[in-house]
Amino acid sequence: MQVLVIGGGAREHALCLAVAKSPLLKKLYCAPGNAGIGAVAELVALKVDAVDDILQFVQDKKIDLVIVGPELPLILGLADSLAAIGVLCFGPSAPAAELEGSKGYVKDLCQEFGIPTAAYRRVNTLAEAEAQIARMTAPMVLKADGLAAGKGVIIASDATEAKAAAEKLLAEHASLVIEEFLDGEEISFFALIDGHTVVPLCAAQDHKRAFDGDKGPNTGGMGAYSPPPAWNATLEAQTLQTIIQPTADAMVQRGRPFRGVLFAGLMLTKTGPKLLEYNVRFGDPECQAILPRLDGDWLELLHAVASGKLAQIPQPKWKNIVTLGVVLAARGYPDSYQKNTIIRGLEHAAALPDVQILHAATAHQGGEWTAQGGRVLSVLGMGTTIAAARDRAYAAVDRIDWADGFCRRDIGWRALRRPDAA
Ligand code: AMP
Ligand code: GLY
Repeated sequence: MQVLVIGGGAREHALCLAVAKSPLLKKLYCAPGNAGIGAVAELVALKVDAVDDILQFVQDKKIDLVIVGPELPLILGLADSLAAIGVLCFGPSAPAAELEGSKGYVKDLCQEFGIPTAAYRRVNTLAEAEAQIARMTAPMVLKADGLAAGKGVIIASDATEAKAAAEKLLAEHASLVIEEFLDGEEISFFALIDGHTVVPLCAAQDHKRAFDGDKGPNTGGMGAYSPPPAWNATLEAQTLQTIIQPTADAMVQRGRPFRGVLFAGLMLTKTGPKLLEYNVRFGDPECQAILPRLDGDWLELLHAVASGKLAQIPQPKWKNIVTLGVVLAARGYPDSYQKNTIIRGLEHAAALPDVQILHAATAHQGGEWTAQGGRVLSVLGMGTTIAAARDRAYAAVDRIDWADGFCRRDIGWRALRRPDAA
C-alpha cells in the first residue's frame, strides 16, 4: 500500500511510526509532517487544508489510503473528495465530521437518540441566553457552536459570570450551547467505526491545563497516559451500549455513516459515563499513548475502517503495558512564545529503552534541532506500571536540554495517587 498521512504533529509522528511497522506498507508520505517525521516518511510540502493540492498529489502518486490526523481537512470535505475519485480515506465525510464541527448537532443528536449527556439548551441571542441562564443552577457551561480549538468553552460559577460569558461568546459566534456542569473524572475513549461496525480501541486520560496541579490556561493537551485505572470493562461496555453504538446507528439513519475513529470525551459521573464532546479523529496527545499498546497491525485496522471491512478482521488485542506521554512546549504556550530556539540531547533521550520521542514542531538545520511551534515534542515512556512508564518518560525528558521549553511534571497524577497504583 502507498499511504499518505495528513498532519504535522506528534500525533501524526506516532501514526507514521505505527504504520511504518506494517508489512502491508510499500511507501509512506506525510503532508506536511515535520523534521522528526522525516525520518520515517517522505515529507510532502502541502498544508492540511490545501484539499485540491492533496487530491492532485494522491492522483499523481497513486496513493491507496489517506490517513487524516487533524479535523480541519475532514470538515473541509477531504474524505468526500477522495471518495469521489475512488481513494480510501481513514476519516469521516464532512457531514459525519459535524460530530466535531458542531456542538449543537451533537447535543440534538443525543437528545433525539437518548444518549447520556449534560442537559442543555441552544441559544442564538443574548436575550435567549439570559433567559436560559435564569432557568439553570450554577455552575454551568457555555460553549460556542463550531470549531473553536478548545477556546470556546467557559465554565461559569454563577449567573453573572454566565451572562458575561454569553456576551463574550456571542460577539464571535452565531450560536451557543448552555449546559449543565457535570462533575467527575474525564476520560478520552476511542472507537473505530467503518460506517456500521463499531470496534472499541481503548481509553486514555489527557491533561488540558498548562501547569502542574491542573492550573493555568487550557491547552491542546500537555500529557496523556493509557490505560487510565479509572476505566474498566464495565464502563467500556456501558459506553459502547449507551453512547457509541447509538451514535453510529444514528449517523447511518441520518444518511451520514461515520467512518474513522470516534473520540468521545466522557465525564464519569455518579450516574454513569456521559458524553462531553465528540472529536472525529485521534486525540493529541492521547494518540501517542494509545498506538504503541496495540498488539497488531495499525495499517490493517485503519485500512479495514476505510474500506468498510472492520467486521472481517480480528478484534484488536492490547499489550499488557502502560504508556505515559509528556508534552514539551515552548515557554509561553498556549499564548505567545519564541520560535527557532535550540533543542539539544534528543538523540541521548531517544537512546533510553522503552522511550519514544515524537516530534510535534521541530526543524533540523545545520546539525541543530530547533523548536517551530507551541507544542514541540511528545516524550513517551512505557512500562508495566504507570509509575514505571512515568519514570521512563521523565528520565528521557531530563536528557533533553531546551532552556526555552517547559513541561508538566505531574502527568498521570490522578492514576498515581490511587492506592492501587504500583
Ligand atoms: P469540550 O470542548 O466540550 O470538551 O470542553 C472542553 C473542556 O471543558 C472539557 O474537556 C471539560 O473539561 C470541560 N467541560 C465541558 N463541558 C463540561 C460540562 N458539561 N461539565 C463539566 N465540564 C465540562
Ligand atoms: N487532547 C485533546 C484533543 O486532541 O482534542
